[in-house]
Amino acid sequence: MRIAIVGNGKMGQAVAALAERRGHVIHTMIGGAENHGGRALTAERLAGADVAVEFTRPEAVVANLERLIEAGVPTVTGTTAWLQELPRIAALVERRRGALLHAANFSVGVHLFLRAAQDLARRFAGHSGFDAFILEEHHATKPDAPSGTARELQARTQSADPARPFPITSVRAGATPGTHLVAYDGPSERVTLLHEARSREGFAAGALAAAEWLPGHRGVHTVEDMLFGAGG
Ligand SMILES: NC(=O)c1ccc[n+]([C@@H]2O[C@H](COP(=O)([O-])OP(=O)(O)OC[C@H]3O[C@@H](n4cnc5c(N)ncnc54)[C@H](OP(=O)(O)O)[C@@H]3O)[C@@H](O)[C@H]2O)c1
Repeated sequence: MRIAIVGNGKMGQAVAALAERRGHVIHTMIGGAENHGGRALTAERLAGADVAVEFTRPEAVVANLERLIEAGVPTVTGTTAWLQELPRIAALVERRRGALLHAANFSVGVHLFLRAAQDLARRFAGHSGFDAFILEEHHATKPDAPSGTARELQARTQSADPARPFPITSVRAGATPGTHLVAYDGPSERVTLLHEARSREGFAAGALAAAEWLPGHRGVHTVEDMLFGAGG
């Protein structure tokens, strides 16, 4: 496949390196300096790209998605903290009969972890002797907090046990690619469910798998649609 990479940062570079190792062609790589407001995402620059993979910043992603969808390029985005704009982007995808896959986290394990956390929350419902909390840690340069994955974890645990608060604490320090945990702390015991990403490779592999899957799947998808199927 010919892949347009939008965002030349840690994730854009990880996806590009993995894609080349797997025999894909990097059609173009578009960095921040040349692309204010998505202006580098022209039909000419994108002509011949089978799919785009977008990893930029919360303040840049929406303009990029608009331009990519208008240009008719199936687009995978892993950028976080923009989902308040999803209804507008989804309407554009529908209007243009386009394809978009978005995920705050592309690792396979984290999606199994989210499901396990929801199940655990259901089992703890009604056991009032425990306080629950969510802790997430990321490298010092991650711009947004809490992480998209932590928000999703909170939404799922709260939907399973609406009576219990699940406050999030975020740590931004060092180089960790991403750690999330949910814990239930009681007077004499603690139950902890933990997901630790060891490197960006897992995110890059998931984003690339999404890029391989997306062309031909019209509409707006999450990574769970790809991993577990529509009814999954
Ligand atoms: N879904 C997942 O699995 C996953 C995994 C890791 C990270 N993320 C998210 O992905 C995003 C990027 O993460 P990262 O670690 O790659 O961050 P990063 O290393 O800071 O890279 C972001 C890059 O985006 C570029 N950029 C900014 N505006 C742009 C624009 N309009 N067009 C093109 N490029 C633009 C920046 O370039 P300049 O420096 O030149 O502005 C920078 O190189 C973040 O939102 C992060 O939370 C998601």
